[in-house]
Amino acid sequence: MKKILLDMDTGVDDALAIALTAAAEKAGDAQLIGITTCFGNVENTTAVRNSLSILSALGRTDVPVFPGSDRALAAKEKYIAGEECFLIHGHDGIGDAGFPLSEKAPETTDSVDFILQAAEKYGAELTLVPTGPLTNVARAIQRDKKTFEKIGRIVLMGGALAVKGNVSPYAEANISNDPEAAKIVLESGIPMTMIGLDVTHKTRIYSEETARWKTYGVTGTLFAEMTDYYIAFNNHEGCSLHDPLAAAEAIWPGTVGTLPFTVKVETESVARGRTYAVSYPDEGDSDHVQVGLTVSKTAVPLFKALLEEMLLSLG
Ligand code: BDR
Ligand code: CA
Repeated sequence: MKKILLDMDTGVDDALAIALTAAAEKAGDAQLIGITTCFGNVENTTAVRNSLSILSALGRTDVPVFPGSDRALAAKEKYIAGEECFLIHGHDGIGDAGFPLSEKAPETTDSVDFILQAAEKYGAELTLVPTGPLTNVARAIQRDKKTFEKIGRIVLMGGALAVKGNVSPYAEANISNDPEAAKIVLESGIPMTMIGLDVTHKTRIYSEETARWKTYGVTGTLFAEMTDYYIAFNNHEGCSLHDPLAAAEAIWPGTVGTLPFTVKVETESVARGRTYAVSYPDEGDSDHVQVGLTVSKTAVPLFKALLEEMLLSLG
């Protein structure tokens, strides 16, 4: 059974990735072994709180949540979420839909420790799915690259190769929130799959779909209202399923079609946070980053149906 570890800055689409992974587990396709948190869409403490709330709404209080990085590698001060984050994800980070607080407490083990412990314990069976800034992942590589490399597969949401960024013309949000961490991870030589804006913008969900969730009961309504907040930010023209697509590729490899590149991260200039592919790699570089470029037409309706089936069963 494939073990999934989600590493996230739990906002709206991260929450949908948790729900999708839980639905896949119900179908017998994967096992969610934990969530490690990071600042990003929200402050790290809010990411912890939201992860616990979402798991509780899904009846999955058995899944442990490990608190992680509260700031970027190079930042001196703790990250504070700003107005732009509230506009996209709501003041509580999960669409102000009214998810009740969980009674469960987070774990006392730190995210970076847990990532390395899981790498040691599960090895090739483990897929790590970072869907926030790559700070925890970079710190795990810095602390113990040899153990980190035991992880079977890394499928991350972040970057934009051949399309514009979403926080600047150059940079995608997860990379932009910690370019130094992204550089460590994407230029590490470790094989990984990058699910960036090139492909996540091709997978969308619309309010006609969330309207159906509202007819299923309390949980369906909470998830629908949370997603509608995100859709409203996108002028009601649906929203991209960034993080769920990374989770889907981790659970069902082949959901996304990829090509291998040598990916670098810009940390200077106006293009800070840009991910780019080099045409003439230096000696020692390898095309170790599989970049998502296409989405399987059949996989997306299937994973949406699975998610919907779970929301229906939760009522
Ligand atoms: C990514 O940035 C965050 O706001 C989302 O949760 C997603 O992980 C999209 O650029
Ligand atoms: Ca995210």
